Amino acid sequence: MKYLATTSFGMEGILKNECMLQGFTIEQVEAGMVVFSTSLKGMLLANLSLRTAERIFWVLEEKKLYSFDELYDLVVDYPFEDIMPASAKIIVNAKSYRSKLYSLRDLQSITKKAIVDRYRKVRGIRYLDETGKEYSYMLRIEKDHAYLLLDTTGVPLHKRGYRQQHTQAPLRENVAAGLLLLSRYFGKGDFVDPLCGSGTLAIEAALIASDRAPGLKRSFQFEAWNLLDRKENRQLREELESRVKDAAFKVMAMDKDPRAISITKRNAKEAGVPWIESKVADLKDFQAPSKGGTLVTNMPYGERIGSSEEIKELEGLMKEKVLTLETWRKGILSGNPNFSRETGLRASKVRKFYNGQIDTWFYQYEPTKRW
Ligand SMILES: C[S@@+](CC[C@H](N)C(=O)[O-])C[C@H]1O[C@@H](n2cnc3c(N)ncnc32)[C@H](O)[C@@H]1O
Repeated sequence: MKYLATTSFGMEGILKNECMLQGFTIEQVEAGMVVFSTSLKGMLLANLSLRTAERIFWVLEEKKLYSFDELYDLVVDYPFEDIMPASAKIIVNAKSYRSKLYSLRDLQSITKKAIVDRYRKVRGIRYLDETGKEYSYMLRIEKDHAYLLLDTTGVPLHKRGYRQQHTQAPLRENVAAGLLLLSRYFGKGDFVDPLCGSGTLAIEAALIASDRAPGLKRSFQFEAWNLLDRKENRQLREELESRVKDAAFKVMAMDKDPRAISITKRNAKEAGVPWIESKVADLKDFQAPSKGGTLVTNMPYGERIGSSEEIKELEGLMKEKVLTLETWRKGILSGNPNFSRETGLRASKVRKFYNGQIDTWFYQYEPTKRW
């Protein structure tokens, strides 16, 4: 069966690697999405374990579409009655990019009408009362290539369930995991975030270091449909639980704000990684906490928090205290497109991301010395 996983733009290469590591067969990679093949159990594995994915959709149909009539025929011919009870609450969303069919409202209403007509045609049911479990469809068209999708995830995967509280401008959990994986952090070596806020980067690092699947603490939309045998579901969850190990390296988190540290501690406990070392500390007093490792952090963005003077000051500290660390691989997410030039230190790589509608740049620096 085919599935389509969505992610943030720029993270598709990392998501593809994650899918391959889980043994899924890659079918296609496009901006913000990866299509892969696996079994029904593999779909549960994808929901439980893909750290950078946002949602896992089941690909019901795919076809080039140029007219609404073609769309209607494609949908009405799909055997929905095999996968969805007539009582289901049916939700249809649509997205269209660079395609002939672009009116989202028409795409939604024609898709919904065709689904309802299908039950009329094959079951003789004239009216669907929609009082049952939720089935959420997505019609996604890009360059006229349409995917008819069923959302297996429900609440998006970045909501792991551990972030009970957050400070200002938290990173999405799957974006944080993506920044770590882009920094080639695989749990082998120490990790530190000196501006940890609610602790997202450190907690995601700890989940990686202890081999803990990010979705173990939550459920997914498709589990309400009894698609997958309950025993198989439980067995896979138990198998992933049994893989959780003690991390062999340290994960450290610091922030000058005591509230941020108490939130980090609470969230880390909730995530099952209470062993993270977190403490109140100002970047101006920062010193390498061990011989070497990976440092990934997220600067306050001008538009959301902090005045531009505060940010300039912090950038100065970043240059002095962080960029000078020779034995650490560093990754800094910043809202400043000129961060690298202004600090006078050339980044090994710069990637642009949209974080909550704001342009951000991820500056990566390789270590210059072995430890
Ligand atoms: C953008 S937030 C980090 C958000 C975090 N990545 C998350 O997901 O919650 C930046 C953090 O830097 C902290 N900060 C600002 N200046 C600092 C300094 N001089 N020393 C230590 N922390 C500082 C702020 O308190 C804030 O929590």
